[in-house]
Amino acid sequence: MTHFPQVEALSTPRLLLRRWRPEDEAAIAEMNRDPQVARYLNRPVDPATVEAFLGRMVQHWQEHGYGPWILESHEPDHAGEVLGFAGLAHVPPFLAAAGSRPELGWRLCRAAWGRGLATEAARAARDDAFERLGLPDLISVIHPENARSQRVAGKLGLRPTRRIHNPLLDREVDVWTQSATDLRA
Ligand SMILES: CC(C)(COP(=O)(O)OP(=O)(O)OC[C@H]1O[C@@H](n2cnc3c(N)ncnc32)[C@H](O)[C@@H]1OP(=O)(O)O)[C@@H](O)C(=O)NCCC(=O)NCCS
Repeated sequence: MTHFPQVEALSTPRLLLRRWRPEDEAAIAEMNRDPQVARYLNRPVDPATVEAFLGRMVQHWQEHGYGPWILESHEPDHAGEVLGFAGLAHVPPFLAAAGSRPELGWRLCRAAWGRGLATEAARAARDDAFERLGLPDLISVIHPENARSQRVAGKLGLRPTRRIHNPLLDREVDVWTQSATDLRA
């Protein structure tokens, strides 16, 4: 995945998937501070994590040339609203047991749940990862009780393949996987 064409953004019927901007900070921090959003994440969310979040995303893009995309609505009633993010991120060292493949993740502010937007965004990010970046396969690490996230993964065609220990949560979590060839089959 060293050489791939650069794009500024991806577009779906309802969403623009774009790079991070400083002005996204407030909407993203509000989303990350919501206990219902944070409930099943791989690491507990504390104020320092919320504050460092946008910087970590920008750094990921700088280091790898790809990363999670900001999701901006382009529906007429919500145009310009920042709704969350979806896309690839390297798993943190504490989740090394998940392997070295980038993780496809998704997170929406609660007001945007239940409209199929996470699936729409994650599908676009997944297709871009396989087609433009040429990634052979990817994973998602999902808390076994995160039914909403499991449904997103299932609709994309990912499958749970193994269970690993998350030392920060001190519990087992599922590794879902998909390869580019699964999708073509
Ligand atoms: C996980 C998360 C992104 C899922 O969001 P979501 O809105 O439930 O997911 P979707 O975008 O797929 O929407 C799903 C529902 O919208 C409904 N829906 C409404 N309109 C729709 C449309 N036009 N197209 C598709 N689905 C639609 C679907 O029926 C679907 O419900 P179902 O799965 O029961 O059938 C969200 O719950 C979240 O941000 N959680 C907190 C962060 C998190 O846990 N992230 C994942 C860590 S692994």
